[in-house]
Amino acid sequence: MTSKKAYAIGMGPFPDGIFRAQFPYYYRNPAGMPQEKACEYYLDSVKAVFEQCAPANTIAAIVVEPLQGEGGFIPAPIEWIKEIRKICDENGIMLIADEVQSGFCRTGRMFASQYWQEADVEPDIIATAKSIAAGVPLSAIIARDEVAEAVATGTIGGTYGGNALACAASLKTIEIMERDDLAGRSLEIGKKVVTRYTKMMEKYDCIGDIRGLGGMVGIEFVKDKVSKEPDAALTGAIISECVNNGLMVEGAGTYGNVIRFLAPLVMTDEQLEVGLDIFEKAIVVAMAKR
Ligand SMILES: Cc1ncc(COP(=O)(O)O)c(C=O)c1O
Repeated sequence: MTSKKAYAIGMGPFPDGIFRAQFPYYYRNPAGMPQEKACEYYLDSVKAVFEQCAPANTIAAIVVEPLQGEGGFIPAPIEWIKEIRKICDENGIMLIADEVQSGFCRTGRMFASQYWQEADVEPDIIATAKSIAAGVPLSAIIARDEVAEAVATGTIGGTYGGNALACAASLKTIEIMERDDLAGRSLEIGKKVVTRYTKMMEKYDCIGDIRGLGGMVGIEFVKDKVSKEPDAALTGAIISECVNNGLMVEGAGTYGNVIRFLAPLVMTDEQLEVGLDIFEKAIVVAMAKR
C-alpha cells in the first residue's frame, strides 16, 4: 500500500483498488499558495480521487498516518483530519489510522490519533505494530466492537496470530509504558530535541523545517532556506557521519532529505545530549564537505 515506490521495485503483482491522494505537506505547498488555502487544496486532492479513480460510495476506507513516517515525519493537520472525517461520515467510508510507526507513546500520547480528539475526531480502526512489544514481532488491529465483530468468525487468522510469547511481551511493554508514563517522557524528550533543533536551524542555512509530535521529530535538509531545494546528498552524509561516531539515525521523506528523531523513550537526558551533540557535529562536518 505504501506510496514509497522504492519498495515496489521488482515486487508485485499488487492489489487493485488502492488510490492515493496528496498528504498535507504545508512546508511544500505549491509555490505562491497562501497558507489559508492549503487545507482546501489537499482536500481537493482527495475529492479528485472520487472523481477520477472511484466514486466515494465505492470506497471502503481512507487510511491516514496521523504522523507520516516514511513520508518525512509530517503530522496530519487537525483542520484537515476534521474534514476527512466529515468526508468519511458523509460517504460511509471507514477512517483508518495507520499507527504502525506513531503508536505506543512515540508522539506523547499512547496513540497519535488521540490528538484528533480536540476536533472530536476518532478513527474507526487503528493499525499498530513496531513499539507494541518493544521489538518482539507483533502487530494488532484495534477497532470498535461493531467493526471487529462484523468480520465472519474464522476468516482472519494466520500462523502467528495471537502468538503467546509476543502477546506476553506486549502486555509487559504496555504495563511499563503506563507505569513509567512514557507518553509524558516522549513529550519531554520532544521538547528538548525541538529546542536544540531550533537553535541549529537559526545557525545553519541547510535546515529548512522542523516538525513533529512529542518525541517523533523530523528535520528537513535543503540546499538553502529560500529555494527549499531538498538536499538528499547532505542528508546521506550527515547520517554516515553520525554512524561513524556511534549514533544511528534514519532518513525519510519523499525526497530523501529528512532525518527522523525516533529514539528509545527510556533514554536518559545525558544520553540524549550526547546524541544531539554528535548530530550537530555531523551537520557541521557534512556541510564543510559539501
Ligand atoms: C506507517 C507504517 N505502516 C505500515 C508499515 C508496515 O508494517 P508491517 O511491516 O507490519 O507490514 C510500516 C513499516 O515501516 C509503517 O511505518
